[in-house]
Amino acid sequence: MVETTDEWILTRTGIRERHVVDKGVATSDLATEAAKCALLQRGIEAQDLDAIIVATVTPDMFFPSTACLVQHKLGAKGVWGFDLSAACSAFVYALQTGTQFIASGAHKKVMVIGSDTMSSILDYTDRATCILFGDGAGAVILEPSEDGMGIIDFQHEIDGSGGCSLYMPGGGSLNPSSHETVDKKMHYVHQDGQAVFKYAVRKMGEVCETLLARNVVTATDIDCFIPHQANQRIIKATADRLGLKPESIIINIDRYGNTTAGTIPLAMQTAREEGRLKKGDLVLLASVGAGFTVGATLLRWTI
Ligand SMILES: CC(C)(COP(=O)(O)OP(=O)(O)OC[C@H]1O[C@@H](n2cnc3c(N)ncnc32)[C@H](O)[C@@H]1OP(=O)(O)O)[C@@H](O)C(=O)NCCC(=O)NCCS
Repeated sequence: MVETTDEWILTRTGIRERHVVDKGVATSDLATEAAKCALLQRGIEAQDLDAIIVATVTPDMFFPSTACLVQHKLGAKGVWGFDLSAACSAFVYALQTGTQFIASGAHKKVMVIGSDTMSSILDYTDRATCILFGDGAGAVILEPSEDGMGIIDFQHEIDGSGGCSLYMPGGGSLNPSSHETVDKKMHYVHQDGQAVFKYAVRKMGEVCETLLARNVVTATDIDCFIPHQANQRIIKATADRLGLKPESIIINIDRYGNTTAGTIPLAMQTAREEGRLKKGDLVLLASVGAGFTVGATLLRWTI
């Protein structure tokens, strides 16, 4: 489709494989499958949930929300929910939002899903973006935990001055869909790769350092580092800056590419499958995404 090589993609990004949905499969379908896996693992029914938060930048449509579509597909009667838009940081933001409902005592079970169908907004003639992203979803269920377990702290920041470095200009209220927006390829991801790369390398390390220092945790205390999977070089630069143990770093970008809100829950699953995420482990999540949006979460794994 574009002039590139497997070697270029692998050395510059770490990506070997990306997954693309069949025509007619949408973000709510991926989200529903991920939700079903999480419910099965936990051994509960969909109607046992209190709320569903879907982190996504590629909803099936503007409205109804993807959360409504997922609720219906799951048959989760009596459950409420909503979508959360923060691009690649959406999962950690949704995780924190869900955590607040649990911490306040309002809810006992909140499902947080990260799901994106990036193939629906990629220009497959643009080699600088189409080689990066894939489709995917993952889900977690949040519940109350014992003292000292679960979500410990977070550090989130947004910086709208970076909006022009990674965005999709068409289809919203500023540039409603028209023949012109289609002709000008405004319904696709537009990215200044180098600007995003430099920002990501700097900020991912920065928010993690702030979070660790505030909690008097050293990098070597981290058992499992689960970063957003945008580029293996960004992950390695962050891990080096922090001084993380090499065995703590979870990387699966080779298998999925950048699935936007899907990467962190997918990487959690990879860590579990590989036996690298166990009860009591101290876990650091980190992300940078369009916006710019930045996030880091410190937690103790409870299952
Ligand atoms: C996109 C990215 C992989 C490009 O890597 P890079 O090392 O910065 O490459 P550059 O943009 O400097 O481009 C270098 C050259 O490779 C070329 N190139 C870009 N994509 C290519 C591809 N798929 N295959 C071959 N060559 C490619 C460029 O055209 C450029 O050629 P030129 O020097 O003749 O102009 C990298 O910038 C990146 O990962 N950025 C962050 C993206 C990201 O994480 N986005 C999501 C955030 S959540």
